[in-house]
Amino acid sequence: MNYDRKTASGFQARDTFVSGWADRLQLLDSVISTQEEAKKLAEAGAPEGTAVRAEEQTGGRGRMGRKWHSPSGKGIWMSIVLRPDLPLALTPQLTLLTGVAVCTAIREVTGVPAGIKWPNDLLAGGRKICGILLESCLREGGLHYAIAGIGISANLTEEDYPDHLQGVGTSLLIEGGGIPVDRERLTQAVLTEVEYLYSLYIEQGFQPVKQLWESMSVTLGRQISFSTPQGRCEGRAVGLDESGGLLLQDEAGNITSILSGEIEMI
Ligand code: BTN
Repeated sequence: MNYDRKTASGFQARDTFVSGWADRLQLLDSVISTQEEAKKLAEAGAPEGTAVRAEEQTGGRGRMGRKWHSPSGKGIWMSIVLRPDLPLALTPQLTLLTGVAVCTAIREVTGVPAGIKWPNDLLAGGRKICGILLESCLREGGLHYAIAGIGISANLTEEDYPDHLQGVGTSLLIEGGGIPVDRERLTQAVLTEVEYLYSLYIEQGFQPVKQLWESMSVTLGRQISFSTPQGRCEGRAVGLDESGGLLLQDEAGNITSILSGEIEMI
């Protein structure tokens, strides 16, 4: 597929980038979770970039053991097999990479001004429109493969959300003024962006991803509250460290890095 678009990033060759991943996408009807389907394919030796999308997930999962609401025909519920040669400590970078790629595709295809909340939530209008779940499979102490799970709430209406997600979740349909999203087009754009950014990452390292992430972030510059085993801490988000952790500056000017977990913007 030849994905003809202008780049927001300024990095070379995206306009003429030819995607191989988008052509290999497998479309399924109803599954428990596309993460499991992608894992089966990865275990059977599927190459990097193998992607599975389902119309519905009956057991879609989110971070921290949460469920992911995945009603039929309304979203993009998709998982991609990645096989980078990467130290385990750097796998959080893949989450950020996926977030940047999906955010770029959403802005380009729908015009919805999505932004990224660290580490992996895409927000629009202050509510969540997309979540990313990166799951790693280890072998002999190293990363064997990773599955990047992407859940985009494309065409959900307010009524499609259960009570506990009312006011928390939103969709591209809602944020885009009621214009339905062409899910096929957005899927192709997401796969192309992930593949492009991933190839740039393999070639040039984390720096291009870091720069793009910082430019799309709704977290940087904000006061953040974060829960640790020692209790809650607060600080201003000032950037990303080299492994993808969030740098927080406290009132005394000390900078610490948080590597995982959930932040609250206050
Ligand atoms: C989160 O924000 O908690 C992450 C949500 C990830 C949801 C996607 S939908 C496709 C893939 N399959 C799953 O079961 N989860 C991910």
